[in-house]
Amino acid sequence: MADIKLGIIGYGFMGHEHANMMETIDEIDLVAVCDTVMSQMDDAPGSVRKYACMDKLLEDEEINTVIISIPNPLHLEAVVKAAKAGKNIICEKPAAMSVEEFDEMCKITRECNVGFTIHQQRRWDADFRTIKEVYDRHLVGKEYLVKSQLYGFNGNMHDWHIYPEMGGGMLYDWGVHLIDQILLMIDSRLVSVYADMKNVINKNVDDYFNILFTFENGITAEIELGTYYLTPKRAWFLGGTTGSAVIDGPFQAQGNVDGMIVRTKHLLENVPGKITMTAAGPTRSFGEPEPGLIYNEDLPKVDCCHKDFFMNYINAFYGKEESAVKLTEVRKVLCVMDAVRESAKRHQAVLFE
Ligand SMILES: NC(=O)c1ccc[n+]([C@@H]2O[C@H](COP(=O)([O-])OP(=O)(O)OC[C@H]3O[C@@H](n4cnc5c(N)ncnc54)[C@H](O)[C@@H]3O)[C@@H](O)[C@H]2O)c1
Repeated sequence: MADIKLGIIGYGFMGHEHANMMETIDEIDLVAVCDTVMSQMDDAPGSVRKYACMDKLLEDEEINTVIISIPNPLHLEAVVKAAKAGKNIICEKPAAMSVEEFDEMCKITRECNVGFTIHQQRRWDADFRTIKEVYDRHLVGKEYLVKSQLYGFNGNMHDWHIYPEMGGGMLYDWGVHLIDQILLMIDSRLVSVYADMKNVINKNVDDYFNILFTFENGITAEIELGTYYLTPKRAWFLGGTTGSAVIDGPFQAQGNVDGMIVRTKHLLENVPGKITMTAAGPTRSFGEPEPGLIYNEDLPKVDCCHKDFFMNYINAFYGKEESAVKLTEVRKVLCVMDAVRESAKRHQAVLFE
């Protein structure tokens, strides 16, 4: 019998994911689910209670914790009701539609003295953890550039994601993860954000964005996401003074990632220009390197999976660990998302104080 008795609010795509995850976690008992569309719960585990609305689920006294996995504009109402019902809350990302909404959520959960965190499980994606490991251990020297790219092939937004008023579009959907990863990795004050957003094939919501961050420590970071590239991939580039780390392959958040660290046997210092003939013409800077000069190393191996979010949640519940996803970090991501929109609208960089 576990101490954490869970109710899932919203039994759609993510609600099902959470229920499946709970089957692998002994420390959490899934007690009930709710959905306003009853048929969504047809395949819920036989052992759980099913409610037609969140109010009924929140009246269930056995439940002490809820996961909120309903569309984005409904998060605020659910957080307020769950906090008033005395339930600890794990809310899906994006936590809120705006910074103001999020501040309201923080206030009510504080006042009601309930736990509150956001499901930012992509902090435990293998590609991100691998590049973060290279960064944290300075395996490519002093870092100057981080690039994070996610390309999809279809381009179509689904269901409520096509409506701006529902918190649709890719900045709300994936931007929140990708920005969170960059801010978690680069341990320096954010100085500015410059962004471009497009609706390439979707009428009303963004399906492409490119965000350039500058940090006080001199590092530039870039996030590029496009749902309509026709050449899908997940890639990272980390440039440092003694090498480059590259991840480039199909998106596989768990397990081994495709990539390498590339190094040169010696750094060139003020050498006389050597002209190399290439297909593009003679060059002194962009020719083929001399044989043997460039060599590859394996990326470090990381051991992580999305279940780690919940293992941290459980440890934090018992006071054994700090909560990994801090509300101040979630708020900062929402502030950056505001800056991204503003920059894209005005075609100007937004500076942070
Ligand atoms: N962390 C992640 O990686 C991740 C991935 C996908 C979605 N999400 C987030 O999860 C949330 C849900 O997204 P989804 O893709 O599961 O959506 P979905 O449309 O698949 O499921 C939402 C479900 O909520 C139900 N619902 C709507 N209003 C309700 C209400 N008032 N009370 C109870 N149920 C209600 C719907 O009937 C539906 O079954 C969103 O905030 C989304 O951003 C997070």
